[in-house]
Amino acid sequence: MKLSWSGLACACAATLVLASGCSPAKEPTAAGGTATTEKTAKPAKIGFVVKQMDDSWFQQETKFAKEKAAELGVELVVQEAKTGDQVLSVIDNLATQGCEGLIICSPETQLGSAIKAATERHKMKLMSVDDRLIGTDGQPLAGVPHLGISAFEIGRLVGKTIAEEMKARNWDLAAVAGIAILKEDLETARQRVDGAKEALKEAGFDPAKVYTAPWKGAVDMTAAGDAANIVITQHGDVKKWIVVSSNDDGVVGATRALQNRGIPASDIIGVGINGTTAAAEFRKDQMTGVFASILLSPRRHGAETVEAMAKWIRDGQTPAMEIYTTGTVINRSNFEEELKREGVQ
Ligand code: GLA
Repeated sequence: MKLSWSGLACACAATLVLASGCSPAKEPTAAGGTATTEKTAKPAKIGFVVKQMDDSWFQQETKFAKEKAAELGVELVVQEAKTGDQVLSVIDNLATQGCEGLIICSPETQLGSAIKAATERHKMKLMSVDDRLIGTDGQPLAGVPHLGISAFEIGRLVGKTIAEEMKARNWDLAAVAGIAILKEDLETARQRVDGAKEALKEAGFDPAKVYTAPWKGAVDMTAAGDAANIVITQHGDVKKWIVVSSNDDGVVGATRALQNRGIPASDIIGVGINGTTAAAEFRKDQMTGVFASILLSPRRHGAETVEAMAKWIRDGQTPAMEIYTTGTVINRSNFEEELKREGVQ
């Protein structure tokens, strides 16, 4: 189901003045009184913190966030925070700079309660994007608006795409094994991989043969390759491989590891998520192990969170508590037009 921020009711001008706690500039009217105009929307400064700028997803998402901020006349401070410690010092820094709102994809979602406490201390509004914050009780943090992907459904699309391609290549399913590059402590990542396994099972593939390769440390392509190598070594007799992960970078890292170990691209079916990194694989002359990806919408994630936060600060309009976006399968044959449709370069 697709929901939209814009579907929410708009706060009236009177609410704007009361809730913002500051009077917008007034212009004289013909009658000699004053009127509030659109131009005089309260200035707003928002921090946008992401966990990993070397993942092209976050380059795209923050690009769209900046574009929306410019359109709305909002000041946006984009920062990368790779560790929990960095997150907490970045929040203090943003508050010092006068940010009234924080949109975050935290490198450690388990820090949710500490992040919420820090923003409350600084009287900043808090929203999460991509990765949902987790409280000390291990549950998603209540009361923090979140915009993420429909992780399980998108995972199912990955599994279905792989199953169809295994069929198209006439593979003997019994001779195939899988690698799942997984950041195990990240809920959205677990849901993506679980969704893929469920769809593979429905297509007659034994999900127990999708071996988990824990994605640790930097959570980049190199670490994904290192994780994959352990599984490849343990199952040296397997000649045909499928690869899933929480995103393109995991799949690209693992498929490269397979190719480096002598498995030809034609014996690998990797399907990623994001589309932004997979596109670079599709542009290569030679086919690689990355067969397809699910293109998400970095535009929606960046622009809609900024818009919602600006309305919250300016109009006192609380954002929707949960929004989950969908994705589209892309491969070598349709990626250019789909990326264009999404406005992704
Ligand atoms: C997580 C992943 C990113 C991207 C986003 C999408 O944060 O690490 O690569 O897939 O989710 O919401």
